[in-house]
Amino acid sequence: MGGAAATTFARLSGRPPEGVWSAPGRVNLIGEHTDYNDGFALPFAIGRAVTAAAGRRGDGWLRVRSLHREDTFSRPLAEIRPGAVSGWAAYAVGPVWALLDAGVRVSGLDVVLDSDLPAGAGLASSAAVECAVLVATRDIFGGPQDAAVLAELARRAETELAGVPCGIMDQMASMTCKAGHALLLDARSGHGEQLPFDPEAAGLTLLVLDTRTERSLATGAYAARRHSCAEAAVALGVPALRDVGAAEVHAARGRLGELGWRRARHVVTENQRALEVADHLRSGQLRQVGAALTASHVSLRDDYDVSTPALNTVVDAALAGGALGARMTGAGFGGCAIALVPAAAADAVGAAVRRAAAARELPAPDVFAVHPSDGARRVA
Ligand code: GLA
Repeated sequence: MGGAAATTFARLSGRPPEGVWSAPGRVNLIGEHTDYNDGFALPFAIGRAVTAAAGRRGDGWLRVRSLHREDTFSRPLAEIRPGAVSGWAAYAVGPVWALLDAGVRVSGLDVVLDSDLPAGAGLASSAAVECAVLVATRDIFGGPQDAAVLAELARRAETELAGVPCGIMDQMASMTCKAGHALLLDARSGHGEQLPFDPEAAGLTLLVLDTRTERSLATGAYAARRHSCAEAAVALGVPALRDVGAAEVHAARGRLGELGWRRARHVVTENQRALEVADHLRSGQLRQVGAALTASHVSLRDDYDVSTPALNTVVDAALAGGALGARMTGAGFGGCAIALVPAAAADAVGAAVRRAAAARELPAPDVFAVHPSDGARRVA
């Protein structure tokens, strides 16, 4: 892995890279829009990843190229600060800025990026870029070893340099996940617990159903959801929605208003579902997970209003085709859904999903199986 990035690095820089690093995308099994409410999420890293071939410079410049973009980012490190970088490069430049800000002495860097993760599809491709560049820069110049500290630096890159108000789930997943496991993340404490998750061993397949639909206006809608949740927490007199249960939210309909009430209801029931699925993983009852996935989708669709007709189409078709459970994954507004299916039914579910999309004249979905994989690491 990383051969193309390393070859391009050598051709453009006239020297081999000092190494190649890889950071995966993630699927969130369940626990959606809970991380910025101090709640629980259950992501796992997938085999698709961003790779970064990197080598130091001595002249104080940062140059970043991507095999999938036309333009090159090339600027002195001293000019990099929040607001100064826009577009795709912000996700790659941000981690270098975050390490500099944390006191790491970076003398300059060349980076070439490659990726087999679809961008903007809800599989955390931006976190994968951040984590790949972060571990590369850290390994070359030194800096924090603790994975949770690194995840927080990657999140700062996204919120402060790229200007996207995300939570911590994606960076924690890309940085700390382990093969054969899902990560039960407590977003309040930052603690992650690795829980065994091996669908194949249970005769199951976890399918990604990429609707290949744009996540238009996603940043504004995401920020609006965060705002509603923060307002609901204030109205309920708690630091975060993590601190209330379904009964308290149910009783507070008048105080929260119809919209705030629905948003809060999603968050508190989703936290319960995430913990319930965690228990199923602990006891190896993977088939039991399906019902919670589908309930999560209904809540995201009806209470949180972040699903789309394309996502609903593939979820409904997967369920009708024999999936044990299915839901949109990630922030929503387009992108990917997932389906947990008996291995023997995987092909039939994929076909059902494609037929349903064609019948509604939607883009042909890309359907592929994913396997819980390792987090960010050096690969060469
Ligand atoms: C995006 C954000 C995460 C999380 C999810 C929704 O992926 O980056 O922090 O909020 O949306 O669960």
